[in-house]
Amino acid sequence: MANRTGESKMTITAEIPTTADTTVKILAEKIRSRRARVGVVGLGYVGLPLAVEFAHAGFSVTGIDVSERKVQRINAGDSYVGDVPSATLAPLVEAGALSATSDFAALAGLDTVNICVPTPLRKTKDPDMSFIVAACEQIAGHLHAGMLVILESTTYPGTTDEVVLPMLSKSGLSVGVDFFLCFSPERVDPGNPNFQTANIPKVVGGCTPACTEMGRLFYAQALERVIPVSSTQVAEMVKLLENTFRMINIGLANEMALMCDRMRIDVWEVIDAAATKPFGFMPFYPGPGLGGHCIPIDPFYLSWKTKQAGIEARFIELAGYINGQMPQFVADKVQSALNDAGRPVKGSRIHVMGVAYKRDIDDVRESPALDLILLLDRRGAVVTYSDPHVPELKLDGLDLSASPEETAAEADCVVIVTDHGAFNYPALVDRARLIVDTRNALKGFRSEKIVRL
Ligand SMILES: NC(=O)c1ccc[n+]([C@@H]2O[C@H](COP(=O)([O-])OP(=O)(O)OC[C@H]3O[C@@H](n4cnc5c(N)ncnc54)[C@H](O)[C@@H]3O)[C@@H](O)[C@H]2O)c1
Repeated sequence: MANRTGESKMTITAEIPTTADTTVKILAEKIRSRRARVGVVGLGYVGLPLAVEFAHAGFSVTGIDVSERKVQRINAGDSYVGDVPSATLAPLVEAGALSATSDFAALAGLDTVNICVPTPLRKTKDPDMSFIVAACEQIAGHLHAGMLVILESTTYPGTTDEVVLPMLSKSGLSVGVDFFLCFSPERVDPGNPNFQTANIPKVVGGCTPACTEMGRLFYAQALERVIPVSSTQVAEMVKLLENTFRMINIGLANEMALMCDRMRIDVWEVIDAAATKPFGFMPFYPGPGLGGHCIPIDPFYLSWKTKQAGIEARFIELAGYINGQMPQFVADKVQSALNDAGRPVKGSRIHVMGVAYKRDIDDVRESPALDLILLLDRRGAVVTYSDPHVPELKLDGLDLSASPEETAAEADCVVIVTDHGAFNYPALVDRARLIVDTRNALKGFRSEKIVRL
């Protein structure tokens, strides 16, 4: 059928893009030309480095956080995240490339939004989705055509499609047509000098192929490598596989440590020797227990979800049990080391070296040191600690301030819980009376006073 100018209807449709085509093209063009206004909701260990990376790549970035304190510090160019030096943040803020606000109205002017809010567990070990829901309520209130929304918080498979999408769809806008929604797991490893946000490959899966492509295009502007996957569920499951893999293998290493302890075999020597196998083995190490916002928590997001599908995640439950026993095992080890030295634990001075959940960072979330300190305190010990990254510690009814590392010399027993690089180990071995080393930080030192895990 021809119209008055003689053009067929087919030709007209092909030449004049549909609204959906236009939305895709406009947003893609804004992203390619770096004119897209980028937003990051949640400016913690994950969100702040991401915001900095996009600001570096030439985008105008707005960070949104409920914490006024964090907002003020960012706007003053004063970083509170170890992997983002203030010397990196301040010039971006001064140049106007990065700013922060606690006013969610800023969402209205943004083209892209990455959600990087916490996903803790409830006391019952069920997922606590309240932070994601709160952030999405705000985004839903300001959703507009041509917006790309990417959830980065670690969560159970199905969250993006089952929780986030219905909230955003209430706007009447269509996903993959008017707005774009993806999940992209965050893989940062705070304190890792070799891998940071820009050079960690980024997996992204969208609700529709157009969403995935938009997510891929977005990350490709600032990050070195992007791996698109076929769905949000695959992207969500990738993260859970990675963290479950670590949790279970650490659980195996911890069980090995328990077995070797009983059989009087040096577990560290066993692992180091096994690691010489050039294929089919990857070393994991025992320790005082799991810590951090990821490994002790994320696998339980998966087991919670699989229970609903009628499958029990038995490896996860078992590794969780073994890893959860480790602070108790270490407390017992400290007690028996003291007893062997002729001292009861009650009244003994015990000095904990390192309370962050891992080496060279300041994060104490879920740190096994916290459990251990409480266990020793309840057994009547007088507990002190040193940690160059954690000046104060507030525990269940116990407020502690870090002591200088030299305090270790006054203690009846020192426990190395976190092997920070800044500790002076030769001086410690020289001056301490008794040392329980849960990290093999004193590898190579030979002394009667060292008790290894
Ligand atoms: N820390 C890591 O090493 C790491 C690694 C990979 C993945 N993750 C995942 O990334 C997510 C974020 O973790 P994180 O370590 O950055 O947490 P974080 O606690 O350091 O930061 C989260 C930020 O979100 C803010 N926030 C909370 N509710 C908000 C809301 N409704 N709106 C705006 N801001 C809000 C908090 O004030 C905080 O600044 C979690 O799901 C975590 O599991 C963390």
